[in-house]
Amino acid sequence: MTEMMNEREAIESRHAVREYYDRKIEPEALEDLQREISRCNEESGLNMQLVTEEPRAFDSFMAHYGKFSNVRNYIILAGKKSLDLQEKVGYYGERVAIRAQMLGLNTCWVALTFSRRKVKKFFRPASGEKIVCVLALGYGTSRGLSHKSRTHSELCSVQGDMPVWFKEGMTCSMLAPTAMNQQKFRLTLTGPHSVRAEATGGLYSKIDLGIVKYHFEVGAGLENFQWDAVPEKKTAGKRSGTAISAESGPGSEEVLAAASASAGK
Ligand SMILES: Cc1cc2nc3c(=O)[nH]c(=O)nc-3n(C[C@H](O)[C@H](O)[C@H](O)COP(=O)(O)O)c2cc1C
Repeated sequence: MTEMMNEREAIESRHAVREYYDRKIEPEALEDLQREISRCNEESGLNMQLVTEEPRAFDSFMAHYGKFSNVRNYIILAGKKSLDLQEKVGYYGERVAIRAQMLGLNTCWVALTFSRRKVKKFFRPASGEKIVCVLALGYGTSRGLSHKSRTHSELCSVQGDMPVWFKEGMTCSMLAPTAMNQQKFRLTLTGPHSVRAEATGGLYSKIDLGIVKYHFEVGAGLENFQWDAVPEKKTAGKRSGTAISAESGPGSEEVLAAASASAGK
């Protein structure tokens, strides 16, 4: 049996995959993934659900427009409405996506190009809960492609020398998937062992921030730093307090075009 890759290796090899083989997920992989989902749900209070052998959510105009093909498995990322729901979904959803990668599976985050209506036939959110987005899942027909990245100086800020652990955290953060590959985040070294992570605006950037924080932790090592709170005024803005919802936010031609463009990178 081949040895399982570790989290860091999975982060390095993960790319969005939108086309899958018509192959059932191995029972051992399914069990392992289900255990990770249950652990994450318990830790976070989220309600993430694995759906297998269900092709309808990705059998829509939107999904084909987004270049998805043969998606038969997905993970619904849902939870109780709260100000930190989007960030939590990002953090724990990515933990599950990386576990899937370690198990030889491929994934793609999907906030827009799937049928929300069809997903709701299989999953009725409890009162006060909402579906934020889904993760397409399966054995990809390819491993995907590396995304283009903004530069270090655009994504982080450090006074003086950059500690090795911070650099490693940045390397993993730059590999994080973000909606439309926008990379609207900034990581700041605020003390010898403290880091502040901020979303700098843009659709779904709170989900992206959760994903980025998970990647940074894997790269930097939690033993080396702690997260610093973001000062209140820094998060204030036009959309302050109302995390952008997949239901209320996008839907415009512009967003669809951007999603489609990033699918064809
Ligand atoms: C929050 C979020 C939402 C996304 N929504 C969609 C989507 O609706 N349709 C799509 O084709 N890709 C979607 N993506 C995938 C991104 O386009 C992709 O992750 C990005 O281009 C970076 O590429 P990579 O994942 O290969 O690193 C989404 C990604 C994230 C993080």
